[in-house]
Amino acid sequence: MNNLNFLDLGIHPLANAYLKKNELTKKEKKYRLKVNFNKKNYLVKVISFFSSKVMFNNKYPYRSSMSQTMLKSFARLAKKIKKMAKGKILEIGSNDGAFAFNFNKKNIVCVEPCNNLAKITKNEGYRTYNKYWNFDLAKKIYKQNGKINIIFSSNTISHIKNLDNVFKSINYLLDDNGILIIEDPSLVECLKKNTYDQFYNEHIYVFSFTSLNHALKKHNLTIYHIENITTHGGSTRFYIKKEKNKNCKIRNTVSKQNIKEKNMGISKMKTYINFAKRINKSKIKFIKIIKDLKNRNKKIIGYGATAKSCTILNFCKINHKYIDYFIDTTPEKQKKYTPGTHIPIVKKAKNINPSQTIFYLGAWNFLKEIIKKEKKFINNGGKFLIHTPYPRII
Ligand code: TYD
Repeated sequence: MNNLNFLDLGIHPLANAYLKKNELTKKEKKYRLKVNFNKKNYLVKVISFFSSKVMFNNKYPYRSSMSQTMLKSFARLAKKIKKMAKGKILEIGSNDGAFAFNFNKKNIVCVEPCNNLAKITKNEGYRTYNKYWNFDLAKKIYKQNGKINIIFSSNTISHIKNLDNVFKSINYLLDDNGILIIEDPSLVECLKKNTYDQFYNEHIYVFSFTSLNHALKKHNLTIYHIENITTHGGSTRFYIKKEKNKNCKIRNTVSKQNIKEKNMGISKMKTYINFAKRINKSKIKFIKIIKDLKNRNKKIIGYGATAKSCTILNFCKINHKYIDYFIDTTPEKQKKYTPGTHIPIVKKAKNINPSQTIFYLGAWNFLKEIIKKEKKFINNGGKFLIHTPYPRII
């Protein structure tokens, strides 16, 4: 048996499909969220039912620049890339320009399929292809821009089902001495922190070094350096070269990551079976805490209407009867309702009484940033509910 559906998270709506008030009575698109481990290619993936066109459309609400943490992380990387680059840079999944705006518009090319986001970089004069990443697009970009020296993609490759097509297209467009930099949420961190909320329809894959390395090898692409970064609750940034490029030496960060993953049993079925057991316990505990809070007449307010929280709330069946409302800084989410659970989303919390209110951390991955912002609430005894590494009040 090479294939194991190790986690069944129940019935879910599409994670970023926030609802308008008049849509609350309409039937939502739903699917059964199951997570699979394949022992042959080591990939951990969500059994996906939706095409990119359904998920990444012209009203995509996720905005990278809504968080200072992401902006700072991209600014730091851009500084490094400016020193490395010997030619044009390309970003696959440029979102609202949070990374690209660190560069002069002459030096970077953007690819973004969501029209509402592509417009943002286009309007600033950045060459933006409002298209899905694939081989045809790679050929078009080559014709108009020549080979690319650095290709960067953050939280995008893990959203695309056909990895062979992704890497074939990258290999075609990247110059022989070029570098591919990919960052996505880390499977190691997900297993360690019990963050099963990394799984939803858009996150088709949660990569480990082991699985990504296997997928890249078929395309003669080699990981030569790895950075473990803190964004999105723990991500891995992979630096990748063409196999024939002898200029980039393979660093010891690669063997270190390999050993770490071997030690935690990343390629063993048992690791995933045990993870699923922990997640089912986590669900029981999460529901108990919420019900206890409600019995004590506490007000629960969601902090950050994330795609991740969509997984938690639909799995645990916690809806608008338990959570009064969510606050979120994203204009595209405000005045809407969370998918499946129909919790209203507003810009800001009003008349908060810290002794009566608990913030449920939908955006737990920005805990540091949120603590800084909510000093007053915390100093007055305010508390947060978090589900990682296990559900608790902090
Ligand atoms: P993120 O964790 O990146 O999302 P996802 O799980 O959807 O990929 O999104 C964070 C969300 O939290 C985003 O909608 C913005 C919101 N947010 C706030 O409302 N306030 C904050 O202080 C921060 C840091 C984020």
